[in-house]
Amino acid sequence: MTKPKCILAIESSCDDTSAAVIREGTLLSNVTHTQEVHQNYGGVVPELASRSHLSAIVPVIDEALRKASCSKQDVEAVAVTRGPGLMGSLLVGVSMAKGLALAWKVPLIEVHHMEAHIMAHFIEAPRPTFPFLCLTVSGGHTQIVRVDAPARFEILGQTLDDAAGEAFDKTGKILGLPYPAGPHIDRLAQTGEASYSFPKPQIQGLDFSFSGLKTAILYFLRAEKKKNVNFVQENLEDICASVQSSIVNILLERLTEAAEKEGLNEIALAGGVSANSGLRTAAKSLAEKKSWNLYIPQLQYCTDNAGMIAMAAWFRGQEELFAGLDMKPDPRLPMTH
Ligand code: KG4
Ligand code: ZN
Repeated sequence: MTKPKCILAIESSCDDTSAAVIREGTLLSNVTHTQEVHQNYGGVVPELASRSHLSAIVPVIDEALRKASCSKQDVEAVAVTRGPGLMGSLLVGVSMAKGLALAWKVPLIEVHHMEAHIMAHFIEAPRPTFPFLCLTVSGGHTQIVRVDAPARFEILGQTLDDAAGEAFDKTGKILGLPYPAGPHIDRLAQTGEASYSFPKPQIQGLDFSFSGLKTAILYFLRAEKKKNVNFVQENLEDICASVQSSIVNILLERLTEAAEKEGLNEIALAGGVSANSGLRTAAKSLAEKKSWNLYIPQLQYCTDNAGMIAMAAWFRGQEELFAGLDMKPDPRLPMTH
């Protein structure tokens, strides 16, 4: 097998159905269908997610090929997220990718979802230089990763319980905001003051913990509502600004420690939570203070998208790292596999 020049990539690990085309390392299209069905349930419902992937996946792939002005004859490999993620969701993307690879007689490339969030930094300039540190913050993960080369990662710290995105989403649920609450908290925080403070987790090393923060917020709101039943409605912006500032401070404190420990000033943010405007602003001013070169991808490449899968697949394709057609999705796929 040879190095594929044109790759079709598929992402279906959670609640976004996405397809992208990359040629010679340049992303030509990136089409994402975000499932809205989960909004009424306060979280992703796995059964509904896989059904929705099934109906969206073919039109999304067609659109990605059309936008890239690419025909199926041009595709020289099919890439797909193998994990981590929801089993039923992963199965749809993996089955589709295998079917296409078999029908088109091209190789299959498997991609790790969290590696792809990091590789999103190589879609557009400015690109970080190796080695760099990446704070990957999503709905399912919170990690600080040292990246020495496209496939050489070392996880320096990670969450021991909830992910940063979950901290936003679960707090938002307590506040009565729709799922996913992260973007709503972000928007409301922009007109609020971070006037309430919550205790910081007491965790050693470079790991994170967010479950204590969620509980502290819950107890705080309970106590305030006893004094004033309308407390949340009357102070929603300030509560959101306070929650956001607590999460951002926890993330950036750890990132600063990691940068100092590793002696690195090439710093990157990745994952859905890096769309957060409070995190972006605070990270930019910290970068100025610490003389970091800070890299944050465009919003469309921060949240789940197949463009990042295509980019990660491009690197794997260059090394002719192909998967067998017996490859199975793995909801808990480890980062180095
Ligand atoms: O990376 P992602 O799209 O999916 C996962 O792999 O989890 O991340 C989704 C997470 C959700 O928890 C969502 O609330 C959060 O990213 N998120 C945000 C913002 N946009 C998305 N959190 C805070 N502020 C935002 N602007
Ligand atoms: Zn993700």
